[in-house]
Amino acid sequence: MRIEKDNIVIRSATVDDAIHLNKWWNDGKVMEHAGFPNGLGESLEDTIENIKSRNDELRQLCIIEIDGKAVGELSYRIKGDTAYPGWKICDFNYQNKGYGPKIIMMLFEFLFTDETINSKCPIERIAWDTMLENKRAQYVYENRIGARRVGIRKDCWKDQTGKLRTAVDYEINKEDFFSARK
Ligand SMILES: CC(C)(COP(=O)(O)OP(=O)(O)OC[C@H]1O[C@@H](n2cnc3c(N)ncnc32)[C@H](O)[C@@H]1OP(=O)(O)O)[C@@H](O)C(=O)NCCC(=O)NCCS
Repeated sequence: MRIEKDNIVIRSATVDDAIHLNKWWNDGKVMEHAGFPNGLGESLEDTIENIKSRNDELRQLCIIEIDGKAVGELSYRIKGDTAYPGWKICDFNYQNKGYGPKIIMMLFEFLFTDETINSKCPIERIAWDTMLENKRAQYVYENRIGARRVGIRKDCWKDQTGKLRTAVDYEINKEDFFSARK
């Protein structure tokens, strides 16, 4: 897939992106928000396999480019009428500059309208979560993209250090997405 707006491009990752992705995924500072403060410790070969395994309409791993530079990654999988995405601006220089909400809205519009996806699985809902500690992400979801906070799952999983972590669940449905944009 490839979508573009102003200076932002979201496109499918290829094996040529493996070096970038591997560097980000193994960087504890980048991965801390996801519960991996020591990084994933993944080999380059495994990253290449990971990229190859997520490349059909219903399961994608993508690169976020701003001004032609790879600055982060995004992924989604689709099951039934629901898309489950995730996103990460990995280059710290591009965080806190207002790009996150733009990227997320581009992705949502694509997921709700893309003909290939919607002819197979008409998308009615997009659902994702974040860690309770990720206050910036929660602020953005609640104040910038109009998502609904639908629940909290306390101590639902153990992070890399063995600490129990709590997830906050968000969703947005098709109707709410398009009526908010009118
Ligand atoms: C979360 C993320 C998508 C947000 O995108 P962004 O472009 O950095 O965010 P923005 O610049 O649009 O907005 C950040 C807002 O959060 C606010 N903020 C920053 N830190 C905050 C905190 N600790 N608590 C509450 N709000 C905070 C800022 O003040 C700003 O609000 P404002 O626009 O009203 O001034 C992006 O930072 C990111 O990818 N982070 C790393 C990975 C990650 O957390 N992914 C999401 C996992 S669910």
